[in-house]
Amino acid sequence: MESIKPNAPRLVITGGLGFIFSHVTEYFAKKGWDVLVLDDLSEGSHPEIIDGSFRFVEIDCADTKVQDLIIAENPDYIIHAAAISDVDFSIRDPEYTMTQNINASINVFEAARFCHNLKKLLYVSTDEVYGECEARKDETEIIFPRNPYSTSKAVGSLIRLAYDNTYFSMKGKTCETRFCNVFGKRQDARKVLARIKKSLEDGSPIPVHNGGTGYREYIYIKNIPPLLDMLLHKGDRVYNVTLNDGFTVENLIKKCSEVAGKEITITESHRPGMDLKYQMDNTRIKELGWTPLYNFEEGLREYLLT
Ligand SMILES: NC(=O)c1ccc[n+]([C@@H]2O[C@H](COP(=O)([O-])OP(=O)(O)OC[C@H]3O[C@@H](n4cnc5c(N)ncnc54)[C@H](O)[C@@H]3O)[C@@H](O)[C@H]2O)c1
Repeated sequence: MESIKPNAPRLVITGGLGFIFSHVTEYFAKKGWDVLVLDDLSEGSHPEIIDGSFRFVEIDCADTKVQDLIIAENPDYIIHAAAISDVDFSIRDPEYTMTQNINASINVFEAARFCHNLKKLLYVSTDEVYGECEARKDETEIIFPRNPYSTSKAVGSLIRLAYDNTYFSMKGKTCETRFCNVFGKRQDARKVLARIKKSLEDGSPIPVHNGGTGYREYIYIKNIPPLLDMLLHKGDRVYNVTLNDGFTVENLIKKCSEVAGKEITITESHRPGMDLKYQMDNTRIKELGWTPLYNFEEGLREYLLT
């Protein structure tokens, strides 16, 4: 496919129309990079951001056809983020979720080993791969995923390791992020902070799993694109991405209610096999030189109040 910015670095982003990666796509397109987004326009996608500043192909990355497309593109960088990201959906349809997410990762890594200009392939993973976290997990600890979604993401983590370790063309050219819960504009109401924002706007009650006892760490979306820019240049291993702003859902709802000055009502819901706590050690990413743009409080205020 013909480049629209012939002398710029070529970046392929899978899932680049989704909540998080729509912001990443816009960031690199604005920076002047030649971005090709591969997205199947499924759940969570935002085709309304398509504005001619990046190229877009509608394709399912779980289909082997995507391999030829990526190889023909011959990118300098690849960010592989395409995934079914809804844990509750993955519990309802584990076979589809795991097949889609794992096949997509196989296809992207398989294509990458034939991309002769490749400088970095960044695989996007999640804190959920650690499973229940009694203490902060650092990147050297074993992964212990406990639901179909996190299992599919953990398989991607192992695929990354296998390709980086095995193929000369990929040695030292891969890295991986494990994000805590990201929140911000364009997140859909399957995720808790987006659901809270909706509830503040329309008064609808929030379904809360397991009595609101689930503890998660949260980070504002505007921190993510510059962090990934740094990792495409300097990353060569796994990085936990968190600022350690963690809350139970019950306390998160209280905090949002205080910030917005409004009551939030809840209804009970249940997620089978739910991990009650994810928490990660962020020493490695800080040592790499990461300075976040927004702390949690600043991000929350901007998200809920503007
Ligand atoms: N949202 C979070 O807090 C969070 C935390 C940790 C990790 N992640 C990871 O970050 C990535 C993005 O998450 P998000 O919340 O922005 O998700 P999202 O659901 O908002 O977006 C996913 C995007 O990927 C596309 N997609 C899904 N499967 C595809 C496939 N097989 N082929 C092509 N496109 C496909 C969808 O159309 C959508 O545009 C995912 O890999 C997710 O596992 C997200």
